[in-house]
Amino acid sequence: MSNRDRIALVTGAARGIGEGIARRLAEAGHPVLLTDVLPEVEATAAALRAAGHDARGLHLDVSDETEVARLPEMVGADWARLGVVVNNAGISPKHEGRRRPVAEMPIAEWRRVLEVNLTGAFLVSQACIVPLRARGWGRIVMITSQAARTKSMIAGAHYAASKTGLMGFARSLAGELGPYGITVNSIAPGRIETPMAMGAASGANEAFLANVPVGRVGTPLDVGEVAAFLASDAASYLNGTTIDVGGGSFMP
Ligand SMILES: NC(=O)c1ccc[n+]([C@@H]2O[C@H](COP(=O)([O-])OP(=O)(O)OC[C@H]3O[C@@H](n4cnc5c(N)ncnc54)[C@H](O)[C@@H]3O)[C@@H](O)[C@H]2O)c1
Repeated sequence: MSNRDRIALVTGAARGIGEGIARRLAEAGHPVLLTDVLPEVEATAAALRAAGHDARGLHLDVSDETEVARLPEMVGADWARLGVVVNNAGISPKHEGRRRPVAEMPIAEWRRVLEVNLTGAFLVSQACIVPLRARGWGRIVMITSQAARTKSMIAGAHYAASKTGLMGFARSLAGELGPYGITVNSIAPGRIETPMAMGAASGANEAFLANVPVGRVGTPLDVGEVAAFLASDAASYLNGTTIDVGGGSFMP
């Protein structure tokens, strides 16, 4: 089976890391299904088509279980050709560029972060299990965070909890789906230049950079390269693992 027959669905793909992942997967020959809550997802998909790739944009709120349940219908006949799923959509609320301490965190903000970052990945993965299992081949990739690997000075406790939960969910799912030819792995990015990272207070990214041995912040394509590897046949014996993509800012 070539990548042409393995459609790749990427959540939160209108911009940032999701866009980088979608671009890299498209370059590897996968038809890509870019999904997001932002209407810009159509333009992002159109730019990939203009570059000669097979790409389609679709509105999808990963936290809305009714909408996710409609995915097979929205995608249509292509749903049976699904091969790769990247759970990338995520939020990291900040107030004037800074995280809210737990003592001041409204429960609504806590719940929203868990709903998008963790439950969203559960809903999308659950929906995709059906076509992947039917094919006996699949790749699910979770975009977690360095905040799930060590303390974060930038993201809030809800974000760290959601991303740590995502890694646990990935390991559980890896155990369940391995026998069906489906692997599940996580990528934990360090600091990547995206609208989310640029929302941090001035000085935060510079302070982080001082701890990056390779001397630069990452790009969405740095993450896209690793996602494309995890999606490939070359990665067939990686399952339930986490790859840190942070220039050495975190070394387990
Ligand atoms: N940028 C970093 O430094 C960094 C570091 C570690 C992990 N991450 C993770 O990488 C992922 C992408 O982050 P980014 O930096 O590109 O952020 P970003 O804000 O630039 O992009 C996130 C995308 O997710 C979309 N999104 C938000 N809520 C959604 C929902 N309910 N349904 C569907 N789409 C939704 C947004 O519209 C946006 O297009 C996130 O999961 C984030 O937590 C980012």
